[in-house]
Amino acid sequence: MIEVRDVGKRYGGVVALAGARFAAEAGEVHGLLGPNGSGKSTINKILAGSVRPDTGSLWVDGRQVQPGSPTESARLGIGAVYQQLTVIPTLDVEQNLLLGTEPGRWGLLDRRAGRERASAMLERLRPALGEHVGPGSLVGDLSPGQQQLIEIGKVLLRRPRILILDEATASLHRPQVDLLFDIVRELREDGVCVLFVSHRLDEILRICDRATILRAGRHVATVDLADTRPDELVRLMVGEKLAETTKVPSARRDEVVLQVDDLHAPGVAGVSLRAHAGEIIGLGGLQGQGQSDLLMTIFGALPRTGGTVTFRGRRLGHYRAARAARMGFALVPGNRGTQGMFSLRSIQENLSIVSLWRRTMAGFGISMRRERSAAREAVERLAIRLGSLDDPVSSLSGGNAQKVIVAKWLLSDPVVILLDDPTKGVDVGAKAEIYQIIRTLAAEGCTIVINSSDDRELAVLSDRVLVLFEGAVVAELEGEEIDEERLVSSALLVSARADREVSG
Ligand SMILES: Nc1ncnc2c1ncn2[C@@H]1O[C@H](COP(=O)(O)OP(=O)(O)OP(=O)(O)O)[C@@H](O)[C@H]1O
Ligand SMILES: [Mg+2]
Repeated sequence: MIEVRDVGKRYGGVVALAGARFAAEAGEVHGLLGPNGSGKSTINKILAGSVRPDTGSLWVDGRQVQPGSPTESARLGIGAVYQQLTVIPTLDVEQNLLLGTEPGRWGLLDRRAGRERASAMLERLRPALGEHVGPGSLVGDLSPGQQQLIEIGKVLLRRPRILILDEATASLHRPQVDLLFDIVRELREDGVCVLFVSHRLDEILRICDRATILRAGRHVATVDLADTRPDELVRLMVGEKLAETTKVPSARRDEVVLQVDDLHAPGVAGVSLRAHAGEIIGLGGLQGQGQSDLLMTIFGALPRTGGTVTFRGRRLGHYRAARAARMGFALVPGNRGTQGMFSLRSIQENLSIVSLWRRTMAGFGISMRRERSAAREAVERLAIRLGSLDDPVSSLSGGNAQKVIVAKWLLSDPVVILLDDPTKGVDVGAKAEIYQIIRTLAAEGCTIVINSSDDRELAVLSDRVLVLFEGAVVAELEGEEIDEERLVSSALLVSARADREVSG
């Protein structure tokens, strides 16, 4: 149904693709795998008609095609969910769902038909979206995962024959992914060809029939997943290096660094916690239960409406993010692209902006050479794939951009680190590096609070996990109790109990 033959693409000095190829059939879910910057999104953009290849050819139904625009690509039956969200935050759910399916002229009947289709899609996604999301909800008010689901719904409404999902699960929790996979299986039954990109290997193994592995823009292998082991996939992807997935002993010390009592804020309904030096606290629960709001409030980026925050034994009055940063708080935001980056500035500037600013505040002169070597070290340590430190961050692949955000804050010498889904879209190799850095910081006495949509990540990193539901802590898991199954079941159990209470 679709074939990519020896496609090459360069961006200035950066080779994004150098002879990439694969073919996928109708009724097949085909995985595209590879480290950050290996060319997966570039292939998808070429198929979606938003980027033109330098060399090679594309074939749909045995005929050579050359989609010169997204419209032409859509006409070929290709529907793409891009890695970066394209929903419009200032429009409501229904408007977003219907973007791109709108008929050229607005007839009254068309409009009603559109509404009905949007509402059917909304109901299909309902179990993953939650009860509170309606056609009139503003998309900007939804959590990243909910926005992602609307993005997917929007593309599904166009009924593509070839569906591209580029990291569409990166901000989704397990139950949301399950629902998406049900939909993908139905599409497969109907003969749709699905191209699936994800850094979560378990997902690839669950949903894909075959997978093509890319490295540095080249074809490495195409494998049948029924007879490929997970460690074999990792080896094909990153060479010999394996992701670190074992737990290490806690570095927790006695000193309470951060104490929060009965904290109230938008999305936060009375949270108390004590975080020790060297401790890694995970925030679990279904997505959008106030985890990000809690982190933002502690960082001073959301207004606190009640409760107290005590830092190193001193009770803090109201403060803003700038003051928190000066005291040694760092917030690694999960919503990359809009938060946490200056997308027109260079990679170098983005990496050093925080530490630079702190050093200036502290009255030190700035050594450009030192900034540059720190940036180089971060690039090397996290294997950030780039042309030059002077290129704009907008030139980076999704995962590499996220690595820049993480590195920027970790370079800043923090006392309390608040991580909001930090490894979203980051490949297995760099994930292991980031875990290593987080653990090193904890061992040095840093206090870490981490929210993650990846339950494995919470299980592997946390000393303790607080399970949140509707802005409050409803359960706590500690030490050996923390494993993926328990994290999923406690999150679901809590919400099931709440549903019963509401209906009973
Ligand atoms: N507009 C651009 N300008 C310059 N370089 C670019 C541009 N788009 C992509 N690249 C480079 O091309 C390479 C491949 O990027 P691509 O986005 O396809 O990677 P990817 O496999 O999707 O990675 P990830 O897993 O991080 O999403 C990267 O090194 C990236 O920096
Ligand atoms: Mg990508």
